[in-house]
Amino acid sequence: MIPLMKSAFLHEYETKKALADFIFNTSKLSMDRKCFEFENEFSKYQNVKHSILLNSGASANLAIIQSLLNLGRLQKEDNVGFSAITWSTNVMPLIQLGLTPVPIDCDVATLNVMSKQLKEAIKKENIKALFITNALGFCGDLHEIKKICHENNVILLEDNCEALGTELKGIKTGNFGLASSFSFFVAHHMSTIEGGMVCTNDNELAEMLTMVRANGWDRNLTHTQQYKLRKQQNVKSEFEAKYTFYDLAYNFRPTEITGFIGLFQLQFLNENIIKREKNYFRLEADYNLNDDFVHINHQHISVLSNFAYPVICKTPVLRDFYIQQFAGAGIEVRPMIAGNIQKQPFIKKYINKRYNLPNADFLHTCSFYCGNYPELTETDLQIISSCLTKKN
Ligand SMILES: Cc1ncc(COP(=O)(O)O)c(C=O)c1O
Repeated sequence: MIPLMKSAFLHEYETKKALADFIFNTSKLSMDRKCFEFENEFSKYQNVKHSILLNSGASANLAIIQSLLNLGRLQKEDNVGFSAITWSTNVMPLIQLGLTPVPIDCDVATLNVMSKQLKEAIKKENIKALFITNALGFCGDLHEIKKICHENNVILLEDNCEALGTELKGIKTGNFGLASSFSFFVAHHMSTIEGGMVCTNDNELAEMLTMVRANGWDRNLTHTQQYKLRKQQNVKSEFEAKYTFYDLAYNFRPTEITGFIGLFQLQFLNENIIKREKNYFRLEADYNLNDDFVHINHQHISVLSNFAYPVICKTPVLRDFYIQQFAGAGIEVRPMIAGNIQKQPFIKKYINKRYNLPNADFLHTCSFYCGNYPELTETDLQIISSCLTKKN
């Protein structure tokens, strides 16, 4: 069996051993020093000013949208564009927080929203923000997308939960917009079991995210930030300040276990990315020889931090055939993320308007993916390759 993922961590034994020692020796397990150290190290890795650690990628997405509403940078009912091929908790926060989600079609060959689709959507809808998903470690032409967003006053946000480490012309995905989210759930490029991060260079947004993460209080802010807030709200004593709640928030705090594993796993991140990229190109060499498949276009991507191996068949009949091939060889497969998200029951329930999304429809019926991770053995890769090879 070649499952979608094999282990919770890269270098699992070493990580579990270090984690056990940490738990035995630390006095505090709720959010503290290790979380803040991990945030600092992640900021250095990602080359951003601020990283805010949370308990999941889903929380990261919800915290970004809540923060933008709290700051008045988005208003209730604003149209927010999002990728039609995405994960449920990318779009759910938009519905939950009273915004109007507008699905944008993806390009089949890149699996992602490209500037072409964005331009068409902007012509039809008054879009205030774009919450783009960098799907499966691939991404759209983000330099062009960033330019279009800037020209049209659209706030660009990146859901980078599946693309940690991908680069375009030396710039990491997650660094193109106002803020980006990351997931450290098992099977992602880096695992803390459960965990997520928001990155941003915007001081005001980072401050709000820090409060949104923990109850809406100011305890994790700097002294200067606390002083300013307390003065504005006429909070006079430390006694009062500790239980003053400034804006709408959640409890999305990570634990010290998240922080510790994150710091420990960060040392293996580049190895993880390099191995996934190598596996990807190895499989793609066989994939591209098979004319049953649509070739994937990643020419604009300089580092391909692949999340999973996508198979895009030319017809639904071919997809059924190849799913059978994979199943017969003991390889676990699954739909392309959530398929065309517009077909999901929660969208049908909460959004009345239907959009024309032909490419997402095509991917819904013609594609699937299998796992790609560093623990794949030479034999595993050979088995996957043999399933990608056309048999005449
Ligand atoms: C694109 C995308 N966004 C958000 C998430 C949510 O991350 P988490 O599982 O950490 O909540 C995922 C999860 O895989 C994802 O793929």
